Order: sequence, then structure tokens, then C-alpha cells
Amino acid sequence: MTGDVTGDMTSGLTGGITARGRGLTRRGFLRAGGGLAGAAVVGVGGFELATRSYPQTGTLLRSQLPIPPLFTRPLKVPEVLQPASSAGGVDTYDLVIRPGTQEMLTGHQTEVWGFGGTFPGPTIRAVSGRTAVVRTSNELPVPIVAHLHGGVTPPASDGYPTDLLLPLGTTGSSTASMAMPGMGGKQDPAARIATGTRDYTYPNTQAAATLWYHDHRMGFTAPDVWRGLAGFYLVGDPAEQALPLPSGPRDIPLMIADRSFAADGSLAYPSVDTTLMETPGVTNDYMNGVLGDVILVNGVAWPYLEVDRARYRLRLLNASNARRYQLALSPQPPGGGALVQIGSDAGLLAAPLTHDTIEIAQAERFDVVVDFSRYKAGDVVILTNGFGAGNTGKVMQFRVGGSAGTDDTSVPRTLAAYQTLRRSDAVATRTFDFADEDGLWKVNGQEFDPAVFAATAKAGTTELWRFLTDFHHPIHLHAAHFQVLTRNGAAPGPYDAGWKDTVDVLPTEAVEVLVRFPQLTGRYVFHCHNLEHEDMAMMANFRLE
Ligand code: C2O
Ligand code: CU
Repeated sequence: MTGDVTGDMTSGLTGGITARGRGLTRRGFLRAGGGLAGAAVVGVGGFELATRSYPQTGTLLRSQLPIPPLFTRPLKVPEVLQPASSAGGVDTYDLVIRPGTQEMLTGHQTEVWGFGGTFPGPTIRAVSGRTAVVRTSNELPVPIVAHLHGGVTPPASDGYPTDLLLPLGTTGSSTASMAMPGMGGKQDPAARIATGTRDYTYPNTQAAATLWYHDHRMGFTAPDVWRGLAGFYLVGDPAEQALPLPSGPRDIPLMIADRSFAADGSLAYPSVDTTLMETPGVTNDYMNGVLGDVILVNGVAWPYLEVDRARYRLRLLNASNARRYQLALSPQPPGGGALVQIGSDAGLLAAPLTHDTIEIAQAERFDVVVDFSRYKAGDVVILTNGFGAGNTGKVMQFRVGGSAGTDDTSVPRTLAAYQTLRRSDAVATRTFDFADEDGLWKVNGQEFDPAVFAATAKAGTTELWRFLTDFHHPIHLHAAHFQVLTRNGAAPGPYDAGWKDTVDVLPTEAVEVLVRFPQLTGRYVFHCHNLEHEDMAMMANFRLE
């Protein structure tokens, strides 16, 4: 049974049911154990098996135009943004958020909302220990919030969901009307509202890592990101640079994201409120998440990349709203183990980890090295998605060229200094239940409210956080990184290694993580990174003091 069929079956079970009835239906079918469409058995004891084959959560939104042939256009690598100025250990960047037009599907021009007017936005290459100031201007018709995902960022620049950046030129009464949409009448007196331009300051006091930035607007993150508001932010450091890893043109970030298209080539998305100004959320059929039927890599549908017979570092990011992927190379090179993982969400692993397949949830990053010299010149290799079907079962294509000349890169046995956290390091234990109650997505029975704190932790300490779910929820913490300690009472899974900021929690799972809080104080959020769930209030505050 395939991923997309599961998506459709999910919708079949929930479609047309009101929001309040939806939850009961879903919980009922999860309990009955029949709703996962062949994802093995759901139930006590059978869960590990189910875990391995659980595809994704959501409903497939079908494109209304013929899908062009796959693998006909080259991969684009987002341009690297140059600082407008560099002085005194601070690099200042200018970034304008605006509409733009680009060819995602062959033969169609599609309007996006982009950082720099493109999807993905430009890549920022930051250096650990050097502050980056991103002077961001908003030329869109809606407010935005920029969040650096995985960044260890002071609250004023973290992109709290109500810290809106209103459009340039917003004045008077329109300021008030834009200030707090999507809050169901609630106000947030602590919101830091800016108009036109805001400086986001990132101290980069963290190790080398593949981060990304994206919109985080209260109630409208999902449609804003779907329209293109996302980009890479790569932190480098001297220790990483000293490693003999592939670099330069052989260090390639790959932003994988599914989308759907209307008949006119525009992006389709089932918003309740198509102005994206008043009422958050999606129409009933899509409450569990929106799955596109076109797979984009760096904004191009099913691209190809010509590679040398050499090692490449591929920084995999799942920037999809709801889709999970099970990535593999097809064919595998002789002997398998094509995907050598060197990094996770928040930095390099202690030592490389070899995979045949990688399951990647929304917002997760897997930094991998692929050695294409294990293939023959002329081989054509497809990056496949075992959780998709037909077109969504394919992501991109690699065309293996001739000799690389000399490739003096390697994957060293030791990648980074790494401190393994222990249970005894935790000064507090907290449990958070990510569940649907009365048809609403909640954390510990509570919908997001900026005034309510689910936890107050001490800066610089380590805590044990337990996440429980009824359904599939990839859970993300701002500001803090963590290590997975247990999954369903057993050892972490094969995709849990390293410092993480997002952990994929599958239906009815329990995951324990050890969170190391940084030396920062203030208000932060943690939330489900299924963006439809997030917009529909599956988010909570924590405070660092
Ligand atoms: Cu990637 Cu709070 O988000
Ligand atoms: Cu969720």
C-alpha cells in the first residue's frame, strides 16, 4: 500500500466531517488499528513494524494540469547571498520578501512569495562566531514573520508567531487590522510588531549545521511557506572546514517540497480564507495536512543533476508541509549503503552512519555524502521516495558522468566533538501530549495561546521532555537542541542520531528527548511541524529564565 493512497484513505475517513467530529473519527480508527492502510499492525507490541512503514499524514491535493515529463530540467542551486557589508565581526545582509515568478513545472510560470522573490530564497552562509544581521523588508500584501529554524537565537529575532513584520507602507488603521489576524480574537500584548523592515540578528553561537529559514506567521505559516517563503542558512565553522568533506560545487543543499498546481499553473492550496488575512486553516478534507502531487527540489519539479564520479555532500531538507519521505538511491550502488549520514538537524554527527534509506519528516535535515564513483559512467540514478506512489515516488535524478579527475575528499571516521547527554543530566522531566481533542490540535489539552506557558526552564540546563502522540506529529523546539533518548521505551531509531531540533513522532508513539537549553532568556515556542497542524494551534510556549 502506498503513501498517497493512505493519504486519500485518510481523507476518505475524514472528508466532509466537521472539525469537531473529525477528531473522534480519527481516534476511533487509530484505536481500531485498521486505518493505516497496510502500515502493518497498529497496537501494542506491533508498533515497531508499523513505525517502519508509516508513510505520511494528510490528504493529496491533485494538480489541475497535466504533469510534464520528469527529469527534463536541471537542478538549480540557490544563489548564495553576499553581505551588503561586513565590519566588526558582523555581516549584514539585505533581503526583500516579495512576489516573484519562476518556472517550477516545465512550460508554466508560477507566482511565488519569496525571500528575494524566489523559492527557495537565497542561501545564507554564516560563520560560527560571526553575527549575521538580516535586514528584512516585506513587500508582500500580508504580514510575515521570519524564523531561523534550528537557530540559537535571542527571542527578539527568533520569529515568534505574533512578531509580525507588516508590509512596507502599512499605516494607521490598516496597521491595526493587520496586527492580529489568525488569533481567534485573542490579542498578544507582548508581540513585537514592526512595519516594513526589521533586522533579524543571529549570533551564530552554534556549531556548523544545515539550518533553514521560513515564514512563521501566526495562523498562516502553512500557506505562506507553500507559496515559497523558505530558504537555506548554512552555518560553517573551522573544525568542519578542516574535514576532508566534499565542498564548493560538490556541497549541495537540496530542499525537497511537494506542491500542487491549479490549471493556470499557479500554486493551489485549500485555505479557508484565500486572502490569508483573517481565518487560519484549511478546508475540512485537509485538516490532517496538505500533500502535493508534484515533488520540487530547490523549486524545480523532479530535476536532474549531472554529477562526476566523485563524492558529493547533499544537505537534505524536507521543507514540505505534511509529507514524509523515505529516500533511497535507485539503483543502489554495489554493496548498498549509498547514503552516508554525516550530520543531523543541528550539526555534524560524532561519526558517520551508513543508510540504504532515510526517512525524513517535515523540517528535518540529513546531511549525507554520496560517492558517485561507486557507479559507472553513464549510470542514471534516481532519488526515490518509498512513501510515495507513481510520480511522488520519485524526487530527482542523478546522471553519472565520466571520471572526476582526482577526488581527494573522504568521510573521516570522526566528524565532530560530540557530548552524549545522559538521563541523569536532566534537572526536570516534562510530558507533552500532542493530541486531537474535540477535533482540535492541542498540546496537553491546550490550544496555542501566547499568554500561556507550558514550561519554564532554566537557561543552560538539560531537561527530559517526553512527547506522546495520538497521530503523526513531527515536534520542533525553538532555540534548543536535543538528543533522542528513547523511542517507545527502546533505543532511538535509525534516523534519530545526533543533535536534533525536530523529532518525528509517529502515531501513538512515546519519545523521550534530552533538551539542552541555551544561555538565552525569554519566550519561545515548540510545536508540531506539520504546518497545517501548527496553523491550527498545535503549538505551545516555553520560557527560559
Ligand atoms: Cu521550522 Cu517553529 O519552525
Ligand atoms: Cu501534527
